Amino acid sequence: MKPTPVTEASIHHAADLLRQGQLVAFPTETVYGLGADASNPEAVAKIFAAKGRPADHPLIVHIAGAERMADWADPVPDAAWRLAEHFWPGPLTMILKKRQSVPLAVTGGQDTVGLRVPANPVALRLLQAFGGGVAAPSANRFGRISPTLAQHVAEELDDSVACILDGGPCAVGVESTIIDLSDDIPTILRPGRITRSQLKAVLHADIRLSSQTKIRAPGMMAVHYAPNTMAFLCPADTLIAMADDLCAKGQHIGILAFSAEIAEIPCLHILRLPADAELYEPALYSSLRALDNLALDTILIEQPPETEAWAAVNDRLNKATV
Ligand code: TXA
Ligand code: MG
Repeated sequence: MKPTPVTEASIHHAADLLRQGQLVAFPTETVYGLGADASNPEAVAKIFAAKGRPADHPLIVHIAGAERMADWADPVPDAAWRLAEHFWPGPLTMILKKRQSVPLAVTGGQDTVGLRVPANPVALRLLQAFGGGVAAPSANRFGRISPTLAQHVAEELDDSVACILDGGPCAVGVESTIIDLSDDIPTILRPGRITRSQLKAVLHADIRLSSQTKIRAPGMMAVHYAPNTMAFLCPADTLIAMADDLCAKGQHIGILAFSAEIAEIPCLHILRLPADAELYEPALYSSLRALDNLALDTILIEQPPETEAWAAVNDRLNKATV
């Protein structure tokens, strides 16, 4: 399936495909999504088949604006309105109690629903043209690296997708922050570009970080977002020593670094990313894919600092490595 250039006509065509119960891959500011009409359980079932994803893993419903929240969630708590006002459109997903009408196929059988208004203009135009909610996980096979280019979607998914809208590279590059507002204490289920401090500053309340004890989000499983090549996360000095050691054993090594000074030698494929988390994020998944495609023996990833700014990157790297 070749990606389709974005025009007003191709967006309206994609909206028609959604109405017909077909799958449409589309860009968001985080990663590409694999969309289906969220009110149509048969269409939603196609997402699980295309991704090879277990049916009990809930999907995020993408909507065109905060005013649509009440179509999907009941009640919509005051905290949700406040967060929507500050962070939507944008990379924040809120988990709320679902309305009875929301198909269980979308929520993985749970009584809550994930909602997000994406900021990418193509995604917003598609949602406006379609009118309803679009259930969309990241447009990758289950457990694999999320796509940040239309080409990644084309490589990963077959003709089960009726259309791939090519909106260029995703600006944020890591999946949305997920906050669960369905319990008494707001809980972050997945870190993303919007940080806990930013959420706290709006809610003026304590925000828990998920204890990871119950798997409610597939992104919370230990191995996720993973390359096929064996990958290790290590601090700069360990990384250089390990690379030397493995090269001496005849291995071909990929390195993803942002600060480590590493001498170029033939057994190493070094990718250098920016040392600023917000610039590192958009390059992360495409870099992991590029290294994964080289059929290397091992990938060594330089460990970022344990600061809030790097929380999303650390979360994804921990899941991508052994
Ligand atoms: O940035 C994003 O969120 C991207 C783009 C396409 O919007 N989507 C995305 O979808 O990352 P997915 O399915 O790969 O991850 C969505 C996460 C999953 O971990 C899912 O379990 C969680 O959201 N989720 C959705 N509904 C939920 C619910 N009712 N309760 C708990 N977690 C939920
Ligand atoms: Mg995903």
